[in-house]
Amino acid sequence: MIEEAAKLIAHSRFLIAFTGAGISAESGIPTFRDRGGLWENYRVEEVATPEAFKRNPRLVWEFYKMRMKRMKEAKPNKAHLALAELERMGLLKAVITQNIDNLHREAGNKNVIELHGNIYRVKCTGCAYTENLLESGRIEEFLKEEDLPKCSECGSLLRPDVVWFGEPLPQEALQKAFKLAERADVCLVIGTSGQVFPAAYIPYIVKDNKGYVIEINVKESGITPIADIFLKGPAGEVMETLLAKVKRCLKDKGC
Ligand code: APR
Repeated sequence: MIEEAAKLIAHSRFLIAFTGAGISAESGIPTFRDRGGLWENYRVEEVATPEAFKRNPRLVWEFYKMRMKRMKEAKPNKAHLALAELERMGLLKAVITQNIDNLHREAGNKNVIELHGNIYRVKCTGCAYTENLLESGRIEEFLKEEDLPKCSECGSLLRPDVVWFGEPLPQEALQKAFKLAERADVCLVIGTSGQVFPAAYIPYIVKDNKGYVIEINVKESGITPIADIFLKGPAGEVMETLLAKVKRCLKDKGC
């Protein structure tokens, strides 16, 4: 199986990757629906919806500041690094991610589409102001701040620039992702339960356009039924082996 996957990738014309929380699990970031996952310890309705933010912004900011602190300590793992290498080799055209942890960019991928936003970006609830706290260098003071964060332009409450349940995805990112999925002849699907739409449409669009889906997961998911190849195992390990086989395949020309 992994040999065929390496061959498909080595000879791909337009390879994309679609990733979920599972690719960051080995970086120490909890997933959502696994045992011990985030949704096991928090009620979505209390911390990840627009209504929750209106009702109790302090609780929502506590939740996101806890996640920010955790993600800030996390490093890209071998799976993220393998995707960055595949992009440098000219094979991987884009990473479409559901993750907000910024680890694909930190691993070195340039063409990253974040369908659910980015935990380090905040946006104003009253005007168009947005800020990337990593780029502005304000992340430490922001995390120490006890008071609710306010917009420096208009004074309104700032919120995390992430997609909450019941909210639309960023249209531009979604359209770009769908177009990439239509062009893909091979799609790596890594570490997602495939349960949250419209993001989870990506592998289906690849299939509808005669592309191949290679899934990497520690267990079967909602995507597995449409996967052409299912590589069972932790993303870091499988991606490291897969990358080595792709390189050998390109070198040997024989595969
Ligand atoms: N390697 C590969 N896959 C893994 C690993 C690992 N080390 N650990 C866990 N997984 C798999 C799980 O088997 C599961 O299929 O990762 C998947 C994680 O699924 P979810 O927790 O549902 O995360 P995800 O699919 O990214 O959720 C999608 O739901 O809550 C929303 O906005 C949130 O973006 C998120 C979306």
